[in-house]
Amino acid sequence: MQLVIRHYRHSDKDTVLSLFSAGNLEHIQPCFNNAIFSPLYITITLVCVLPDDCYWVAEAEVEGIAQIVGMVAVVGKQSGNEQYGELFRLIIAPTCRRMGLGVRLTQTVIDFCKERGFSAVVLETKSTQQAAVALYKKLGFSLVLKHTNSSVPSWMLMLARATILRMKKQL
Ligand SMILES: CC(C)(COP(=O)(O)OP(=O)(O)OC[C@H]1O[C@@H](n2cnc3c(N)ncnc32)[C@H](O)[C@@H]1OP(=O)(O)O)[C@@H](O)C(=O)NCCC(=O)NCCS
Repeated sequence: MQLVIRHYRHSDKDTVLSLFSAGNLEHIQPCFNNAIFSPLYITITLVCVLPDDCYWVAEAEVEGIAQIVGMVAVVGKQSGNEQYGELFRLIIAPTCRRMGLGVRLTQTVIDFCKERGFSAVVLETKSTQQAAVALYKKLGFSLVLKHTNSSVPSWMLMLARATILRMKKQL
C-alpha cells in the first residue's frame, strides 16, 4: 500500500471526525458484552499545532483515490522538570488494520517526542481496547497506573468492567 503520513489539514476535518466516531462506536460492543455478564459509554478531536503538539493523518491510495485511513495526535506536557508527550486519538480504519499502520503512527509520535528531547511518551487507553494495549506493549509501553477517573461516567465503566490504563514508554 502506498502510504503517506502527513500533518493534518483543516480540509481533513470531516473525514477525521467520521473515522474517530466509528472508532469510538467499536468499543461499545466489548463494553456491552462485559456489561451483560456483570452483576451490576464518547470524546472530541483537538486540532492545535503548537511546536510541541502535532496531529498526523495516514493517507493511502485506495482504488486510485487518496483516502485518510488513520490518525494520531500528541500534546507536549510538563510535569516538574519532566517534559513528555501524551499520545491521543490513535485510530486506523477497520479495513486497513493489521498491516502495521498502528505501529507506524505510534512510532511517528515516539520519534517526534525523541526529537524534542522529551523523556517519555504516555497515553491512556481502556482495558477493553485489547488491540491497542497489545500494540502499545509491543512498542515498549508499560502499565504505570489503573484508574477510573474519566469523562465516561464511573457507573458505565463499572458496568462494562473497564478500567483506564495509563501506559508509559521511557525514551
Ligand atoms: C489499535 C489499533 C490502532 C491497531 O492498529 P493496526 O494498524 O491494526 O495495528 P498494527 O497492524 O500496527 O499491529 C501492531 C500490533 O498490535 C497488536 N494488535 C493489533 N491489532 C490486534 C488485535 N486485533 N488483537 C490483538 N493484537 C493486536 C499486535 O501485537 C500487532 O502486531 P502483529 O500484527 O505483528 O501481531 C486499531 O485496532 C484501532 O484503530 N482500534 C480502534 C481504536 C483504538 O482502540 N485506538 C486506540 C485508542 S487508545
